[in-house]
Amino acid sequence: MSTVVVTGSGGLIGSQSVHFFAGLGFNIVGIDNDMRAVFFGESASTSWNSQLLSEQYGDRYQHKNIDIRDRTAIEALFKEYGADIELIIHTAAQPSHDWAASDPHTDFTVNANGTLVLLEATRQLCPEAVFIFTSTNKVYGDTPNYLPLEEQETGWEIAAGHAFHRGIDETMSIDHSKHSLFGASKVAADVLVQEYGRYFGMKTASLEVDV
Ligand SMILES: NC(=O)c1ccc[n+]([C@@H]2O[C@H](COP(=O)([O-])OP(=O)(O)OC[C@H]3O[C@@H](n4cnc5c(N)ncnc54)[C@H](O)[C@@H]3O)[C@@H](O)[C@H]2O)c1
Repeated sequence: MSTVVVTGSGGLIGSQSVHFFAGLGFNIVGIDNDMRAVFFGESASTSWNSQLLSEQYGDRYQHKNIDIRDRTAIEALFKEYGADIELIIHTAAQPSHDWAASDPHTDFTVNANGTLVLLEATRQLCPEAVFIFTSTNKVYGDTPNYLPLEEQETGWEIAAGHAFHRGIDETMSIDHSKHSLFGASKVAADVLVQEYGRYFGMKTASLEVDV
């Protein structure tokens, strides 16, 4: 049975990914240990959302209360579903600049090491699966702040004729800029995702999302 693994499945993007792929008929394995409540307090907990997904989709949504840094648990899970896993959508993260500065070790291990654990489990146990990582524009650091902007009727836009007028692509440098520690841990994850694609030939993609 085709399975989609969604990390951070109780969160904003993860839960919407569950709805989308469950709607297409996939079985979903959601990984979320409600670490958002650890980062930002009980009022930020996403456990209510994980509970809703379980109630809405029944057997087709399996919730796993696993920390993505827990290599043993992640490998056991990927071993259980093996080649049934067609797609991994990795959204679990520490998402705040300010919080990252308060605890750089936790920020880096969740964002960077957690991504490595998932990539390596994919390579070892379901190498044909597509791996999608929700990255961030903060991988560019403060470089976008120096783009020429023009005031228009409804907002500020990059000047017409500029190479990034229609959007910023991978050709913008991620070097020589100030990222915040959050940006640095996401760069590490983003480059790992790209590297597993280039070096191992896996089907990986790193997307910038804005919700
Ligand atoms: N929402 C946006 O506008 C936006 C913009 C740019 C980038 N992003 C990126 O997209 C991703 C998801 O964003 P979001 O807004 O859905 O975040 P979110 O905080 O709503 O969801 C993340 C989920 O991951 C879970 N989680 C955190 N650490 C975990 C761990 N160690 N193990 C298991 N689960 C863990 C949390 O409990 C939470 O439910 C993040 O990587 C973020 O950097 C989001």
